[in-house]
Amino acid sequence: MTTMPLGVKTTAHSTGAAARATDLSKVYGEGETQVIALDSVSVEFRQAEFTAIMGPSGSGKSTLMHCMAGLDTISSGSARIGDVELTTLKDKKLTQLRRDKIGFIFQAFNLLPTLNALENITLPMDIAGRKADQAWLDQVVATVGLAGRLKHRPNQLSGGQQQRVAVARALAGQPEIIFADEPTGNLDSRSGAEVLGFLRNSVRELGQTIVMVTHDPVAASYSDRVVFLADGRIVDELRGPTADSVLDRMKRFDAKGRTS
Ligand SMILES: Nc1ncnc2c1ncn2[C@@H]1O[C@H](COP(=O)(O)OP(=O)(O)OP(=O)(O)O)[C@@H](O)[C@H]1O
Ligand SMILES: [Mg+2]
Repeated sequence: MTTMPLGVKTTAHSTGAAARATDLSKVYGEGETQVIALDSVSVEFRQAEFTAIMGPSGSGKSTLMHCMAGLDTISSGSARIGDVELTTLKDKKLTQLRRDKIGFIFQAFNLLPTLNALENITLPMDIAGRKADQAWLDQVVATVGLAGRLKHRPNQLSGGQQQRVAVARALAGQPEIIFADEPTGNLDSRSGAEVLGFLRNSVRELGQTIVMVTHDPVAASYSDRVVFLADGRIVDELRGPTADSVLDRMKRFDAKGRTS
């Protein structure tokens, strides 16, 4: 082990922000069907920090993740991964950046059923024609506790194990940042706790940067910081969250009435 967290890549002019949105707006449709999904959002995700994004359904959480990860275009403002402004990138460069610097964990694990766990984990690198760093891969597999399951196909794994494969896949390529959209949304609480514990460890021990959407105050309590969205705007932030403090904050949302 080096003293430098393995997942952290610093550059000479690193600002410490793994990703940053500035006055980011996203408008879907036009005229009467127009929806302002994100309304001038400015937020920074620091390296080696675990951020949870919370807010009512339709508040723009997934949209923010997709825009920050280059999976969707933005209407105005700026979205950066490290020092790279996504809006300046042509399709090919954007695809490369997504592949090389960003891990995305989808709610439905998106594993390929015909590949075993290890093949699923290394798939993005195999597509990119890159060789996995074996020491890193061993460390990721050991941390997710999948060493004895690498030859199993998804239908031979529990839901929690499948989600851990999806998490390992996101980590394996050593991305600058991982976006996870409700990664524990369809797991039982024990499997969910396994995945969350693993995500937190990858931040603490490996210096990974993670941004995670969740509706669950317990899941949010694994993070370092909770950012609250409502109606496409950031309305609050909580550092060092506990399940109780998150729940309290959510109740205040409800008291004011949900507008979305
Ligand atoms: N492709 C689209 N076309 C039109 N409107 C969209 C599209 N995607 C999202 N929206 C709208 O943008 C708003 C934000 O959606 P988003 O999916 O980001 O919400 P969310 O906070 O992730 O909600 P949930 O908790 O239900 O997943 C919603 O009002 C939604 O209807
Ligand atoms: Mg969503």
